[in-house]
Amino acid sequence: MYTTSTILAFLGTSIIYYVFRQYAEYLRYERARKSLGCPPLSQYPSWDPIFGIGYVKAMLKALKEDRFLQFQSETYAARGAKVWTANFLGNRMVYSSEPQNMKAMSTSHKDAFAVEPIRIANGAITPFTGPGVSSSDGAKWQASRDLVKPYFERGGFSNLDRLSGHMDRLIDKIPRDSSAVDMQPLFQRWFLDTSTDFLFGDSINSLEHPERDWPQRYMMKVQAGLRVRLQLSSFLFLHRDKKWFAACKRIHEFLDGYINKAYQDLEDEKNSGKAAVYASGKPRDDFLWTIVKRISDKLECRNELTAVWIPSNETTSIFMSNTIYALARYPEIVAKIRKEVLDYGDKPLTFEGLRSMEYLRWTINESHRLYPVSLQTVRACVKDTALPTGGGKDGKSPIFCAKGDIVHCNRYLMHRDPDLWGPDAEEFRPERWKTARPMWKFVPFGGGPRICPAHVMVDTECSYAIFRILREFKTIEARDDRPYTATMRVGPSSKYGCKVAFIS
Ligand code: HEM
Repeated sequence: MYTTSTILAFLGTSIIYYVFRQYAEYLRYERARKSLGCPPLSQYPSWDPIFGIGYVKAMLKALKEDRFLQFQSETYAARGAKVWTANFLGNRMVYSSEPQNMKAMSTSHKDAFAVEPIRIANGAITPFTGPGVSSSDGAKWQASRDLVKPYFERGGFSNLDRLSGHMDRLIDKIPRDSSAVDMQPLFQRWFLDTSTDFLFGDSINSLEHPERDWPQRYMMKVQAGLRVRLQLSSFLFLHRDKKWFAACKRIHEFLDGYINKAYQDLEDEKNSGKAAVYASGKPRDDFLWTIVKRISDKLECRNELTAVWIPSNETTSIFMSNTIYALARYPEIVAKIRKEVLDYGDKPLTFEGLRSMEYLRWTINESHRLYPVSLQTVRACVKDTALPTGGGKDGKSPIFCAKGDIVHCNRYLMHRDPDLWGPDAEEFRPERWKTARPMWKFVPFGGGPRICPAHVMVDTECSYAIFRILREFKTIEARDDRPYTATMRVGPSSKYGCKVAFIS
């Protein structure tokens, strides 16, 4: 039995130890900062220096009220700085909306940053997936990147025939009598169909069978939980949402069905000496097939698969939905794209043909710029370093990132910054791309060696969808007056969907 004085002595020693450790860490931080020539960073004010509860509460409130994007703009504006720092549950966060910092973190300084500590090592995503291309660093990352590379090669996605059947089914779902339709769930089902087709060689065909779209809905739950877990960092143990763990299990079972079938096909191929084929008789050549031939362990295979499945979900579909949302508000832009579509004529649509449509390309860029589906590039700093800019009174001095800091480079704010894009930065104006040569101020897919491997595929799919829709319909009308309201799952998506009408 402990006496009161023993407990008080223990508490007192713990507090002294904590204060001493904090002070030692402060001295170390200050010494390293000065040695790298970095001035102190602007700080988010907080009454609680230990957990930064004030900041955590403000962020949670913004998330709950679906004001997370506004919260980004407001917190930066209130600091009057493009780089600042905050304490979030005891972790130092560094926030930047400077293109030069995004560039350095992704290229020249990339070795000082990592994803594993904030995704795998702390257990944030491990109930759902293990190491794979989007969750590992160093040699493991390189091996995974090499493994998935063939899937993203141009030869695969430049064949537009692979999209045509899925697009026919999507267009069939669009009412011809100018009545309203919500395109967001339709694009989500379209993406589930195309991605199961390309990843597993077996489309789930949820456009024809809506009841089959449950993996997409379960993935939404999984991803919402992943975002919470990624944010909780040292307080991960607080996340005990049983429904989330159950959703992970359902998705595992779903993926395992495809994985077991692929290993069975491989076994049959070896035993019979005959190449594995699809029901159509065509030889198997899907993404999963390339993986099972190189990895014999089923769990490892699932990790590699989910590392691609996670960043692919709720990205292309939301991006397409956002683009249609914007087009429905700009009939003059639709008219210009439609002219390109009609001028193309009846010749077979090719990858090169799509790329040659300048105004369509500008529109896609403008949609990425104003509605980036990935808000920030987030990395753990693994070695004291200085990023190039954003510090000091004039905002031009280098900024200090200490080992252990979590650094967020915010593309949403960069893409809308009037200093970078001019006074009309908030306007949807594809014409700006006639002269814009944006480099690192426009990074919807990140940059450097970890750039999204699907970037050309995504733009091809979105251009293809718009081309096909505008060959069919003269214009698009908005059927919802509410302003765009982003709700956060992993990235932002429209809370009210994308209710529009297509006019023949
Ligand atoms: C609008 C659609 C998409 C956007 C805007 C997007 C954006 C991004 C961004 C910003 C990154 C992080 C880059 C970095 O850390 O520097 C990323 C990574 C990644 N994306 Fe995408 N993505 C999209 C769709 C997809 C799709 C459809 C797939 C797969 C089929 C995919 C697969 C990946 C993978 C595997 C990574 C990790 C790459 C690595 O760490 O090496 N993405 N994506």
